[in-house]
Amino acid sequence: MNVKAGLLDFQKKASEYLTGGMSSSFRANHFSGIPMYVDKAWGPKFRDISGKEYIDFFMCHGAVLLGHDRKEINDAIIKSLNRGYFAGFDSEETLEFAKKIIDIIPCAEQLRFVNSGSEGTLLALRLARGYSGKDKIIRIDGHFHGIHDYLLANNLATKIDLSNDGTRISKVVGRTAGIPDIVDKVMVTVPWNNIDTMEKVLKDQAGEIGGIIMNVIDYNNGCITTTKKYLQAVRNLADKYKVVLIFDEILSGFKTGLSCGQGYYGVTPDICTLGKALTNDVPFGVVAGKKEIMDKIMDPENPVIAGGTFSGNQLGIAAGIAVLNILSRQNFYDEFLKRVEKFYASLQELFVKKNIPAVVQYLGAGFSIYLGVEKQIKCYREFKNIDPDLTRKFFISCIEHGLYFHTDFTISAAHDEVTLGNALDRFETVMNKLRKA
Ligand SMILES: Cc1ncc(COP(=O)(O)O)c(C=O)c1O
Repeated sequence: MNVKAGLLDFQKKASEYLTGGMSSSFRANHFSGIPMYVDKAWGPKFRDISGKEYIDFFMCHGAVLLGHDRKEINDAIIKSLNRGYFAGFDSEETLEFAKKIIDIIPCAEQLRFVNSGSEGTLLALRLARGYSGKDKIIRIDGHFHGIHDYLLANNLATKIDLSNDGTRISKVVGRTAGIPDIVDKVMVTVPWNNIDTMEKVLKDQAGEIGGIIMNVIDYNNGCITTTKKYLQAVRNLADKYKVVLIFDEILSGFKTGLSCGQGYYGVTPDICTLGKALTNDVPFGVVAGKKEIMDKIMDPENPVIAGGTFSGNQLGIAAGIAVLNILSRQNFYDEFLKRVEKFYASLQELFVKKNIPAVVQYLGAGFSIYLGVEKQIKCYREFKNIDPDLTRKFFISCIEHGLYFHTDFTISAAHDEVTLGNALDRFETVMNKLRKA
């Protein structure tokens, strides 16, 4: 069966019942435009409904850091199911998981469990506002934080205020149907890695800004990084202007080490959000932070409300404990990161050897391939240098050759040397074809 045609046929059939033929509008592949329909997933691979196998670098939106179908995690979930599944109660395991997170995450003194990343960033904003008593939040142009109204604009590569040279507040771009313009009254979007603009906003709107939210490593746009200097300067401004600093670690969490992006850079926010890899893809989320701020949830006079039917569900708790037990093993990160870095270097060498302009940009378990450029992409304005035609051709050919990506690329611990070697062979085939064409 022609794979693309097979998937398109299935999407057509599915669309009669599922809007757009998918459960999430982010499921349509960024390059092919078609959602993937999967029959089975294991380790670093999956098989689509036509029987074609892929090496998976999508890893379910970056949530599968330990590989699909990992036995220790499955066993923990089954054990939890066998005692009678419940979401509406907490348990001894709930406390065990909370303690483990607090032990490893620098900013975590207390936490609340939620069901998804979007729910986490929504609660984090509410905490920042409730604690500070100020409604406005500064966010970063291009950073994605989930689907709730406050944060769903200026996201991902094509919807960034590319005309902003870094010296001003960004224009609202990519605002989509159903989200009222009124949210602009309480959100201020500024460019990343530019401390002067952020300071100007804090100075001009002092007394109105209650929080700052940012990703610590921007994997949503591939792999754009920052510096300790910038993060520390943001930390200092947050202290100076009494603003709650939130690091969204939903995608960056556990990709560089146990203490996440905040530990990697050595800058501690007031609150952070976690999700995805924390439970290896079981629906879950965490808001963790300073006790004084988290305590606002229990304010007897005027609390920040935080709660939900499925919050802290026991399957997520069981999976999360199993995940942290694996990630905490001695040498886990040493071995894992050594392997992925060797792969990135080999992939970059391949591009050089084949004379195809491309930069493999990476940090920890997340990476990106920017085609048509020779130098690292440091900020979004440089996206205009990427060759869209070459990018599309390259990634569609990758999918045809059994290498699966969306816009963020994750390598899991299940991607062993053999799989990564195999992936490099496939990349080489794609490059050869591209050169011929
Ligand atoms: C950085 C970041 N924050 C928040 C979210 C939202 O998480 P969820 O999809 O679990 O709601 C995502 C999802 O891709 C994300 O990448």
